[in-house]
Amino acid sequence: MKRVAVFASGSGSNFESIVNATKGKEKGYEVVLLFSDQPTAYALERADQLGVSSYFISPKNYPDKMAYEADILGLLMRYRVDFIVLAGYMRLIGPMLLKRFDGDIINIHPSLLPEFPGLDAIGQALEAGAKITGVTIHYVDEGMDTGPIIAQEKVEIKPSDTYDSLQKKIQKIEHRLYPQTLDQLLRKGETIAKTSVN
Ligand code: GAR
Repeated sequence: MKRVAVFASGSGSNFESIVNATKGKEKGYEVVLLFSDQPTAYALERADQLGVSSYFISPKNYPDKMAYEADILGLLMRYRVDFIVLAGYMRLIGPMLLKRFDGDIINIHPSLLPEFPGLDAIGQALEAGAKITGVTIHYVDEGMDTGPIIAQEKVEIKPSDTYDSLQKKIQKIEHRLYPQTLDQLLRKGETIAKTSVN
């Protein structure tokens, strides 16, 4: 069974769904660590409630990304982590972690990439008047939301949708699709390409 670390900067609802999906079931992974770059991330509290070890390391205490990631790498080695799952981690992964975890880091993004990469993808889709958006799970490379796509699912944007209603629809899909995709990836060690309309 693969040992997974989840990286989260915010609420951590995806982290929670990934942990809960393993409860009472035989899964291809076990979440052994929650890492955050934000001291007030609610994900840290969720980790306590879920009984998952959690760590916050501030990037502000390091001269550069290399030094920061050297300490994160030390933590990952201590927990014998095999695979990294980014779940609302709002920081680019640098060469040190990318080299050590080559092909073993994935991310979830609230749009149909390559549309609306970067910050506030939901706001970008509404601003653009898009009729369809969605969720993408992809491998992480050095770019911003640019790595090879593993799974996508579409969400219709209705004229009546607000930011909150669209975010709810997207997160509902995320909470099912992320644990499911992670399990399939780590169990079979193979890539799933899936596109379906809601
Ligand atoms: C998720 O919707 C995720 O897709 C998004 O942040 C949210 C985190 O929610 N990620 C990005 O925008 C990455 N560019 P959570 O903290 O409740 O899991």
